[in-house]
Parts: sequence; C-alpha cells; structure tokens
Amino acid sequence: MGGLQHCVLLFLLPIAFGIDFQELKSSQNGHAVHERVPLSAIRHIKERSVADLSLLKHKIDKRSTDPRGDTCNALQGYESKLSNNTHSYTFNDLSGSVSLAWVGDGTGVLLALTTFQVPLFLLRLGQSKLYRSENYGKSFTDVTDLINNTLIRTDFGIAIGPDNSGKVILTGDVSGDKGSRIFRSMDFGNSFTHTDLPFHPSMQIMYNPSDSNILVSISITNDLWLSVDFGENWKKIHETVCVAKWGMDNTLFFTANLNGSCYDRGMLVLRKTADYGTTIKTIGEKIYSFGIGGRFLFASVMSGEGTLRRIHVSVDRGEAWNMAQLPPVGHEQFYSILAANDEMVFMHVDEPGDTGFGTIYVSDDRGTVYSKSLERHLYTATGGDTDFTNVTSLRGVFMTSVLAEDDSVQTVVSFDQGGEWVPLQKPENSQCDSTAKDKEICSLHIHASYSTTMKLNVPMLPLSEPNAVGLILAHGSVGDAISVMTPDVYVSDDGGYSWLKALEGPHHYAILDSGGLLIAVEHNPYKPISKVKFSTDEGQCWHEYTFTQDPIYFTGLASEPGARSMNVSIWGYRENIFSQYWVSVTIDFRELLTRDCVDSDYVQWLAHSDDISDPNDGCMLGFKERFLRLRKDSVCWNGRDYEVTKEPTPCPCTLDDFLCDFGYYRKENSSICEEQPDLKGHILEFCIHGKEEQLQTSGYRKIPGDKCEGGMEPERKVIDLKQRCISNLLDPQLLKDGRPAGSAAIIVSVVIILMISVVAGVLFVKKYVCGGRFLVHRYSVLQHNVEANGIEAGDEPLDTSVTAHGRNGFHDDSDEDLLE
Ligand SMILES: *[C@@H]1O[C@H](CO)[C@@H](O)[C@H](O)[C@H]1NC(C)=O
Ligand SMILES: *[C@@H]1O[C@H](CO)[C@@H](O)[C@H](O)[C@H]1NC(C)=O
Ligand SMILES: *[C@@H]1O[C@H](CO)[C@@H](O)[C@H](O)[C@H]1NC(C)=O
Ligand SMILES: *[C@@H]1O[C@H](CO)[C@@H](O)[C@H](O)[C@H]1NC(C)=O
Ligand SMILES: *[C@@H]1O[C@H](CO)[C@@H](O)[C@H](O)[C@H]1NC(C)=O
Ligand SMILES: *[C@@H]1O[C@H](CO)[C@@H](O)[C@H](O)[C@H]1NC(C)=O
Repeated sequence: MGGLQHCVLLFLLPIAFGIDFQELKSSQNGHAVHERVPLSAIRHIKERSVADLSLLKHKIDKRSTDPRGDTCNALQGYESKLSNNTHSYTFNDLSGSVSLAWVGDGTGVLLALTTFQVPLFLLRLGQSKLYRSENYGKSFTDVTDLINNTLIRTDFGIAIGPDNSGKVILTGDVSGDKGSRIFRSMDFGNSFTHTDLPFHPSMQIMYNPSDSNILVSISITNDLWLSVDFGENWKKIHETVCVAKWGMDNTLFFTANLNGSCYDRGMLVLRKTADYGTTIKTIGEKIYSFGIGGRFLFASVMSGEGTLRRIHVSVDRGEAWNMAQLPPVGHEQFYSILAANDEMVFMHVDEPGDTGFGTIYVSDDRGTVYSKSLERHLYTATGGDTDFTNVTSLRGVFMTSVLAEDDSVQTVVSFDQGGEWVPLQKPENSQCDSTAKDKEICSLHIHASYSTTMKLNVPMLPLSEPNAVGLILAHGSVGDAISVMTPDVYVSDDGGYSWLKALEGPHHYAILDSGGLLIAVEHNPYKPISKVKFSTDEGQCWHEYTFTQDPIYFTGLASEPGARSMNVSIWGYRENIFSQYWVSVTIDFRELLTRDCVDSDYVQWLAHSDDISDPNDGCMLGFKERFLRLRKDSVCWNGRDYEVTKEPTPCPCTLDDFLCDFGYYRKENSSICEEQPDLKGHILEFCIHGKEEQLQTSGYRKIPGDKCEGGMEPERKVIDLKQRCISNLLDPQLLKDGRPAGSAAIIVSVVIILMISVVAGVLFVKKYVCGGRFLVHRYSVLQHNVEANGIEAGDEPLDTSVTAHGRNGFHDDSDEDLLE
C-alpha cells in the first residue's frame, strides 16, 4: 500500500534541441533559410510512423456470462439504499477556495483548507479555516484553532508526507521580519505545532521521499535550508541555490550560481549532498538545467559550441556522466522528460523554431542510446503542456497528440512503450463528426492537457488506475482531428484498443473499488445539479441517483487516491442572495454492492490480445500477462484488499525485442540493425564514457523492460567502439585528450549551425506533487460579478481544478520551480 502514498515527483524539463536533422539557419534579407542536413551519427531506426488503422482488429470484449445479457437491469431499488448512505456537510464558510488533502492510506482522514483572500497591492489580507474529517468526508470538524487563524499560503498547498507517515505541513503567510511560520503535524493532522522559520520559503517545503523527517526548502534569497527533525530546527547548507531535487538514496541535488543570478543559464554548477549538507560535491559545471527520472540523473550542459547544449546522463548519482545520443539544442528550444522509470525514459526534444512540436525519443536501459519514437509531437513551449499520458492500467500503453501537417491536433496511442504509434479506433457506437472527410473512416481523439490549456470545456484529464486493469476514462471527440465542440466521455476496458462512448457531454469522473464502480457527475458550472451517475459494468450502463433535493453548484469529485474506496464526495456550493457556502455530499456505495466478489465473478483476460486461445497473441515486450478481471455483469465488491491477479509468461525473442545499439540503424521495414555506412572508420559523435564494456557492441540491445526468452538471439561480432569516441563535456580533461584527429567531419557539421534567436531559452520544471494527494477546488466570489458583466468567462470565473490523479496530481501555475 506504500506505493499509493509515495510522493511522486515528476519533472518535466523543457530545454532545447534539434533532431535527427540539424536545421541550418542563416539569415538573408531577414528571411530564415532552412536547410535540412541529416546528422547520421544518430541512429535511424525502423520508421515508426503512424500506422494504418486497419491494423487494429480488436473488438469490444463483452466479458459477461451472457453476451446478450442486459446488465442495465441488474441493479434495482438502489435509491433507498443510497439515500440511507448519503451524508451532507455544509460549511459555514464563504471562502473563495478549498484545498483538500488525504492524509494516509485507508485512514479516511481528509483535510479541507478554505481560504479567503483579498489581494491589496502587495499586501495579502485573508483568512484560512481548517476542517478535518476522519470518515472519508462524511462529516468535518472545524479545527481552525489548530492553526490559530493564520492565513495559509494556498499556493504552497498542504504538504503531505511520503508513505503513511501521517505528516502534514502548512505554510503560513505571516510576514514577520525574520521568517515565515509553518504548522507541522505528525499525527495525521490531529494536532499541529507551529515553528517560526529563520527564512521565507520561496517554495513548498519538500520532504525527502525516503525519510519524512528530512525537509528542505529554498528561501526567497536563494538559500538552501534543511531540517533533519521534521522542521523543528533548520540549518542553511548553501547559498545562491536555484533548484533543488531529491534523488535516490537520500541524495539531494541542486544547482547553484556562483557569481550571477539563476537567470544565468548555462553557468550553473550542479552539486549534491548525500549526508544532508555535511559534505557537498560538485558534479557538473556549465549546467543549464537538470532533472531526475527513475534512476537517471539528467543534466543539460553547455557544449562550448556557442549557445548549444547537450543532455548528459548519469546512473550513479552524478559520479560518471555519459553524453546522451540526442541532438544538441539552442536556447530557444527545450527538452522534457515525459515519463521515466528505472528502466527507460521518454524524452521530448523540441524542434528549432516556434513550431509547437518536437520529437519523442525512447532510451535504452543506460539512458544514453535513443530511438526516435514519434515525430511532430505536440508540446507547446508557451503553454508548456503536452498530452503525453502514461496509461497506468495497462503495461506499455501511452497516449499523446501530434500536430498534423494541416495544424490539426490528433491523438495517437502506443501499445508497445513507444515502438509504434497508431490512431485510436473509432468507437462502435459513435459517428464521425464534421472534421471527418469520410463519414465512415475516422478515429477517436482524446482531450488532455493541451485542451485544458486551450480552455476547451474539458473538466478532467484521462483517468486510469493500476488496479483497475485495462480501464481508461477520457474526454474525446470522433473525427479526423480533435474538435473544439463539446467533448463526450469515452471508456476503454482493454487499455485503449477499443472504445465506447459512455456519457454525453463533459463530466467529472472517478474510479472506485478497483474499477468495479465508476462515478460521474455532469460538468456544468452555470447550472446547479442534484444527480450523480454510476456504473458497475465499466461504463456500459449508467444509473442516476438524486443525492440532494437542494441542487448545488458542482465543483469537483473527491475520492481517496488509489481507487480502492467506496466513498465519494461531491463538492460544490450553494448560494442565496447574501452568501455562498461550501457543501460536500459524501455517498458510501458499500450498501449498493452488498455481495463480496467470489471466484466465479472473475474471468481470465489476456492483455494486448483479442484471441486468448492463440498462443502467439498478447506478447508485449517479451511477455504476456493474463489477468483475472471482474465480469461486467457481476455486481459485487472487490474490496479494499483486492489485488490484481496476473500471470506473466515469457515469449520467445524476435529481432523486434531488440533496439539497435550505437552506430547501427534499421532500414525502413527491416528488423535488422546495420552498421551505419558513413560511420565506418569515422568517429562516433556520441560516446559512452567510463565503463569499458559498454563500448563493446554487437549492434543489438534488448529493449528496456523486455523479458523475452529463447527464440532469436542476434549473433554479431563484437566491435570495440572505444577508439571512436570523443567524450562528455562534463569531463574537460577527456574532451581535450580524448578527441583523436579525424573527428573533423562530424564536429564541423555541428559547429556550422548558426542559431539566430532572440528568444530566451525556456526551462520550466513543472512539479507535480504527491500523485493525487492534493486537490484544489477553487471558485472566486468576486469573479461572479465579472462574469455577470459579460466578460470572457474563460478566465476562471469557476475554475474547478480537481486534478486528483496521475501526473496532474498537482496543477500549479505559480510554479515555484520556475526559474524566472
Ligand atoms: C434506511 O434506514 C432506516 C432507518 O435507519 C431503515 O428503517 C430503513 O430500512 C433503511 N433502508 C434501507 C433500504 O436500508
Ligand atoms: C495563537 O496565538 C496566540 C496569540 O498570538 C498565542 O498566544 C498562542 O500560543 C497561539 N497558539 C498556537 C497554537 O499557535
Ligand atoms: C565567476 O567569476 C569569476 C571571476 O569573475 C570567474 O573566473 C568564474 O569563472 C566565474 N564562475 C562562474 C561559474 O561563472
Ligand atoms: C507508467 O505507469 C506504470 C504504472 O504506474 C509504471 O509502472 C511505469 O513505470 C510507467 N512508465 C513510465 C515510462 O513512466
Ligand atoms: C467508507 O467510509 C467509512 C467511514 O464512513 C469507512 O468505514 C469505510 O471503510 C469506507 N469504505 C471504503 C471502501 O473505503
Ligand atoms: C514499407 O512498408 C510500407 C507498408 O507496408 C510500404 O508502403 C513501404 O513502401 C515500405 N517501404 C520500403 C522501403 O519497402
């Protein structure tokens, strides 16, 4: 259960780059001339273009005892059962915003912090109130006296400790001379002690993910402060610090500027401490930015070639660095870690120029060799948003959007960890919309972060949960491209192969009981609601329940993260002529699913397959997995302790289980890795430094996470590439000595690049705190008048950002890690 509690810090690290092709730009009469020169040192892989829709043959799997059975009638008389289990709580509170945070797993403790703020010039006046529930939100106690009526900074949120530590920190907004005040709890918010900090934090207090007693923060004067006793005593361990991040094994990494400001990108030093500041070691210089993904530490380092910088990777916490086999970037570009685990990383490399797209590369297990995965990947530098989504309910599945040649946005999905991307299948029960050229042939497009940034009417991002196998809920439209029309809610029960239109119009949704129960509430900020919809068959049939006689303006759903709960809270407010006040209605669905699920309620399901009897079907990254999944027509309770039952079996290896190593590439439509002809006898531009055995290659390398056994074993003579290396920029000695004569050809082609750019580089390190532990409902009393005056409603008159899941667990626009 500890996993749920984990503070997932996902860093998106935009920096700059070119691709497989270097763009040579020069200015003639003010016109930029673009010429594309292939940079052959980067391995070309088998063309991984967007494949044909017809390749998808997956059909909707009914997974019920009677395939024609109408599960919609299975549930009867639920109204009275539910009304006996509906608990309404009214807050005597007019505050403009509510922040909710779950404390601990299965504890039922929910903190609600309401804040009323009036910004008056530089002064902030306001009041915070704290409420605490011990029964999953059914009732609350006003515990405002625990924080002594102090105004709490909502932009720093409620900092919940990792694991089941029960730790909570609230940061006060008192402007004393010396410092700020924090309120700390070690008993799940039952009691708080306050501590006056010797500094003013510029960011939320950050827990060491592996020890909740260790805290760090950076002050507004760029000092790095650390506490080893859960915030009681603080010591300054470094000055001039720009960004700090926890890595593995209690290591703290940070960038510092030695004589300038943090704007002085490319002149920073990267340091680390493994003993909480006693000893500090410099592990990199000329650093532009750094990021951590899985076991990989990334740094972009100025290359000494003008304004270009390059990604370097370390798997031993910065002791040894390798240059990543990715193109260098100029300062108007960025790169971003889209997703990473201990095995591999998805890296986005921005295209030169303000195109709004770039290329996704997937790494090998060392983080140094990259395969091109997807071109024209939508990622706007301005919005800083990408639709890239790890579908956590099925291994290997990822979704994102591409910017097509005609500038339309289209969704693609990969079922094999970025190997191949295809459009989503059109749902059988949907018609193509007006964006489709052919009324019969079109695909489903999913609304994700980009749509929310564009202020389309999309209240929630795609939702999937690891314990709700195969299940995805998302807003989408059906056509040739994503449509700005009102989106509907679609459901997939097989990890994105097939889809079903589940609900008309935008909704908020939640997964309960490990997928056994889905909840949805219509999203309409202008009309009060009184109904909640639920489904016990993965979204095929929806039932309606009227939870109140007195409708509320709905702002968001809240259920305990981890999707094991049976309690869901509907948050909103009511208003009369004089006031508005917060209301939460919590429904316990336990009475509805009275029966515990038994063996006969589950059926076998083979992931990534539409034919369980075919022995060759369902292999994904070298193995297939059978799951026991709930029958759709079973109305029963999985229970809090439900564990996903899976049965993995290895598949025989094929060449497709391997990627091409350094200096090798795949010809189009071929699985064979061939040595790059133009590299024979040349020096590799990119090189792995350090460990000698890594320079031996047979041209093939297992795809990270691939567990195939036997079968094809590519046999190749091992070549020693050591003689062909220049080394990494973080080791100037090697750079000087290690570059043999003859490297001119490739080096020159890099140096020629003239970057004409006045745009400053963007690097924003978006931070998502504690995967779903923190959610914000926000509405502004003042802005109602704005709205009434007919001013554009888009600017959050009723900004409900319930971002309770996945990487958007914390959606913070005032990102404190933003280096500005
Ligand atoms: C609801 O609760 C009342 C009183 O507690 C009880 O009499 C009634 O039987 C309950 N209804 C259901 C459907 O459980
Ligand atoms: C609340 O404030 C009062 C007056 O400033 C102070 O005496 C008291 O100790 C404070 N209590 C807490 C719990 O901080
Ligand atoms: C700091 O300034 C000194 C002298 O002005 C210079 O030698 C040194 O390289 C600078 N260091 C950095 C990291 O900019
Ligand atoms: C995607 O999510 C799954 C489930 O949470 C996780 O195990 C996996 O490591 C993630 N993959 C990447 C590349 O982040
Ligand atoms: C729902 O809330 C009640 C407390 O009101 C709790 O006892 C129960 O365990 C919760 N159910 C689940 C499945 O979390
Ligand atoms: C590769 O395969 C695709 C589709 O099968 C075909 O259209 C294309 O011409 C092939 N390319 C080469 C170089 O054989």
